[in-house]
Parts: sequence; structure tokens; C-alpha cells
Amino acid sequence: MDPRPSRHWLFGYGSLIWRPDFPFLERRPAVLHGWTRRFWQGSHDHRGLPHAPGRVVTLIEAAGERCLGVAYALDGAVYDEVVAALDVREKNGYARLVAPVRLHGDDEAAEGVTVEALVYIATPENHAFLGPAPLQALAQQIHRSQGPSGSNREYLFELAAALRALDARPDDDAHVFELDTAVRALS
Ligand code: BEZ
Repeated sequence: MDPRPSRHWLFGYGSLIWRPDFPFLERRPAVLHGWTRRFWQGSHDHRGLPHAPGRVVTLIEAAGERCLGVAYALDGAVYDEVVAALDVREKNGYARLVAPVRLHGDDEAAEGVTVEALVYIATPENHAFLGPAPLQALAQQIHRSQGPSGSNREYLFELAAALRALDARPDDDAHVFELDTAVRALS
């Protein structure tokens, strides 16, 4: 029998960056190429309400773009349980995808390793997808929205702070940082 425990990777680019509510073996900054983060998914169950949805992030396919997030190594013994819980938590329009993500390492040997990771993505076909809107309209919706998991503002501010802590390139996440500034100006 292989004595090494099996490991599976999960990539987070939204609330999973700062609020992983599951056990993990390792947490590594990581990049998913070919996708970009946008506040284009409606949240009727966490950061908004059915009649007044908030907005949370999803990934949009975009050649040449990159999305910085966090990859978690999960123990194979708990993987199915963690995914089942996330399926419930993210039931409002998210689907699972397996995609290659590049890990950032603490040392040279670990730098640049690519692993296959599970990612939750809300595609434009899902019922809760809201799509693009002008910056001020997005900011106002996030500013006023509130749901069972807390305010939509808190979600945005936590995400922007987590991205800064990961040393996100301003260009990669101009969408998030501009929204952060716009919503703070309304607050
Ligand atoms: C994430 O942080 O990656 C995430 C969390 C919930 C739904 C989709 C993505």
C-alpha cells in the first residue's frame, strides 16, 4: 500500500481565499491562467436576498489574463466531504471544473509547479448570473446589499485585502481594486 496520503488540490479565488472553512494540509498562492475575476455573479443566498441580490465573484474566460488565488491541498480522506459541503455552500449557480493552476512556492524547488485543481465557476448560463454593469452601478449594488452571510461590502473589502496580502498585481485585479475604492467612497 502507498504510505503517502492522497492529496487533492482546490483553487479558491473568492471567499475561499480568506475564509476556508475546511481542514487543509497546505495553502499556497497560485495562479490560474486564461481566466479573470469579475463581480458578475448574483448572490441571493449569502451576500444578498432573493428579491435584492448582491454580487460575488466568478471567473470569466479571457485569453492572456490571469487570476491570482490560493490553492489548498486537501487530504484524500476528507476530500469528498469537503466538496460535498462546498456544493451546498455554493449551490446558487456554481459548477465544478478541474483546471491547471501554477503554485507559488516558498522556495525555488516549489516555484512554478503546476497541479490540477478543482475550481468553482459560475458560468454565464446559470440562473443567478448578472453579468457586467458600469462601475458605479456595481458599487451601489454592493454598497446596499446584505444577506445571511453578511454585507456585500464586507465580502468586497475582505477580498481586496486578501489580494493585497498576496501581492496581487494591480493590473490583474483593477476590477476589484476600483470597486473597493468606489464602495469605500459611498460608505
Ligand atoms: C472561491 O473562493 O473560489 C469561490 C467560492 C465560492 C464560490 C465560487 C468560488
